[in-house]
Amino acid sequence: MRTKVAIIGAGPAGLLLSHILHLRGISSVIIEARSQSYCEARIRAGILEQGTVDMLRAAGLGARMDREGLPHHGIDIAFDGGIHPISIEKYDSGRQVMAYGQTEIVKDLFRQHVDNGTVIITDAEVTEIREIDSASPQILYRREGKDHTLNCDFVAGCDGFRGVSRKAMPTSIRNDFDLIYPYSWLGILAKAPPMNKVVIYAQHPRGFALQSMRSNEISRLYIQVDNDDHVDNWSDEALWDELDIRIGVKQNRGAIIQKGITPMRSFVSEPMSSGRLFLAGDAGHIVPPTGAKGLNLAIADIALLSAAFIDFYCDGSEAQLKDYSERVLRRVWKVERFSWFCTTLLHTDHRHSEFEKRLQRADMDYLLSSDAAMKSFAENYAGLPIEILPDL
Ligand code: PHB
Repeated sequence: MRTKVAIIGAGPAGLLLSHILHLRGISSVIIEARSQSYCEARIRAGILEQGTVDMLRAAGLGARMDREGLPHHGIDIAFDGGIHPISIEKYDSGRQVMAYGQTEIVKDLFRQHVDNGTVIITDAEVTEIREIDSASPQILYRREGKDHTLNCDFVAGCDGFRGVSRKAMPTSIRNDFDLIYPYSWLGILAKAPPMNKVVIYAQHPRGFALQSMRSNEISRLYIQVDNDDHVDNWSDEALWDELDIRIGVKQNRGAIIQKGITPMRSFVSEPMSSGRLFLAGDAGHIVPPTGAKGLNLAIADIALLSAAFIDFYCDGSEAQLKDYSERVLRRVWKVERFSWFCTTLLHTDHRHSEFEKRLQRADMDYLLSSDAAMKSFAENYAGLPIEILPDL
């Protein structure tokens, strides 16, 4: 089999890339390790930057998002017994964010791919990525006990942090940067109407907490826990009580339909391309979830990568492909900085000295009392500009 762009991974990044290429008549094949139902059921992030919303709309994927998504004009910060709003709309020229689950985006994309006639090879394990320095790389994969080869012009590695693509980057040029935090998130999805219209980020001496939502009926809530904690240590009642204490606003309680622990990590692998292999999304970098940047960062990578493929196939230029890694990493590091800032601002780090605790307080005081700080926060939260967008 042969295609122009072989895409590894059917998450939001790979699926969106394939769809954008389809819109410009560029063929692609997606190879995914898991089943479609597994991909569609993964519970992940839920807050979309304005730029992500705009990209999905431009790609013809906005209909259900615009019907069912919940636009948010700002966020609230719970701190010192009070609720402090930060208006994104006011401080960032009318831009907003949208609550719409990653799970829903993946479902919308799979549906779109049926119309597009995209080849998505699921339950296929990539065993090797070969010849990335040639004009004709190959992907070797195993499916139902048989070995297959996919020949292509380019490989897009969109297979997440644990995927195989990053490992195919030559070790001689690869540099990984890693930061592990001393806490995790215990997250729940609950059949309960969210108490607040926008996300509440709570900084509390007992630890961080977050109230978010997936719809007017479903709440998404998190509390900071130790890295060695376990969901079985938390009864439903203990969890709701802890959320009420930390957020300082009594939550509507309801049946908990999902419970899980997410570790917190910042990670960047440089460069994001080598020869004809290009990484996008979590395959190249991850952020801690505070600030809701992971999915948005992946979509921004895809904006740049799809524009670069369009530049190559439709305009005969390799310039954007050559610049991809450098250009994408400039934005990635700024988003890494913001995610790290939100994480360290809002969590309780038991290793901290009294001096560091006072610095954290001063950071919060500054954010909540300075127009300049709120403007900077709003600009980052609604999303930093994406340098080049695909011409759709
Ligand atoms: C979520 O809704 O899952 C969410 C919201 C805001 C965050 C992180 C996660 O910063």
